[in-house]
Amino acid sequence: MKKKRVLSGIRATGRLHLGNYLGAVKGMLALQDDPGFETLYMIADLHTMTTPYDRGNLRSAAREVVLDYLACGLDPDRSVLFIQSEVAELHTQLAFYLSTAVSVARMQHLPTYKDKVTQYPKDVTMALLNYPVLMAADILIYKASKVPVGIDQEPHLEIAREIARKMNELYGMDFPEPTRFATESGYIPSLLGEGKMSKSIEGSYISLTDDLPAIAQRLAGAPTDSGQGKKVPTEGGVANLFTLVELFEGMEKRETFEKAYVGTGVRYQDLKKELAEAISTTLKPIQKRRRELEVNASSVDQVIQEGSQKARAIAKVTVEEVRRAMGLS
Ligand code: TYM
Repeated sequence: MKKKRVLSGIRATGRLHLGNYLGAVKGMLALQDDPGFETLYMIADLHTMTTPYDRGNLRSAAREVVLDYLACGLDPDRSVLFIQSEVAELHTQLAFYLSTAVSVARMQHLPTYKDKVTQYPKDVTMALLNYPVLMAADILIYKASKVPVGIDQEPHLEIAREIARKMNELYGMDFPEPTRFATESGYIPSLLGEGKMSKSIEGSYISLTDDLPAIAQRLAGAPTDSGQGKKVPTEGGVANLFTLVELFEGMEKRETFEKAYVGTGVRYQDLKKELAEAISTTLKPIQKRRRELEVNASSVDQVIQEGSQKARAIAKVTVEEVRRAMGLS
């Protein structure tokens, strides 16, 4: 039986945080371990350029993500690991062809686009508007049918499916309609009590490279209350802390804290101390592997080079097919 393809990516914004790990990388690992799938994972550095970025830092930020991928257990012998810009001529070429199959209005109404317009009102570029089309190209160029990403990426996957349908209808292509592969933990909340854990919001995240004192310090900033009440909060700082307790210490532990909340009271100092230790225990093996990789720069370069070659070989075939189907050759 032919293996189904998987494609995912993370922008080159430096080191990964717990949200990226639990919401995306865990799913990438699960599919890498499943013999029914052929997995390709990239660093979306072209997508990084759709909002203001530091050009002096772009290459090293992409490299940091490669290191995090490897440290988390993505394995170049089982997954193709590559940097999007190393196959730029094919991804951007396909993005142009796909852009003929979707309207400007559809792009402008996407919630993810509107959020970025609010965040960067002075930097609303064509590249930003085109973000989901490039992402569709990333996926369709490998004819991937599963995409391990967080729930926030669902609107982009919907666009990829719409484009796939349209290209199949208009030009007789055979693009699969890609669906999201969700991890168990799903959406990881911000430490600040509102919204999601995000690299662009200082104080909201814990990096995969944070040591115990750094994790404790970040948790110290998480808002709490008196520790007691009639009902367990379902949103805000305390609810988010309870979610993290469940993720890192298990459901039973969460229930113990919830009982204490409606009973004798929760001592947040103790909760945060235990939680910091549990998070640190999860991250230690990843950090150990990362340190080993950091001293072996040439092997990381080799992974990037070989991965990009493998990705290019597949991508080239699809671009040639689309060019023929659309009347270019
Ligand atoms: P990016 O860099 O914004 O996010 C990387 C991945 O991490 C997930 N994520 C979270 N999941 C759960 N809880 C959180 N707090 C949290 N924060 C981030 C995101 O859902 C995402 O999966 N558009 C993509 C990059 C991309 C891509 C692609 C992905 C470009 N081309 C093709 C898949 C396929 C993005 O914004 O990643």
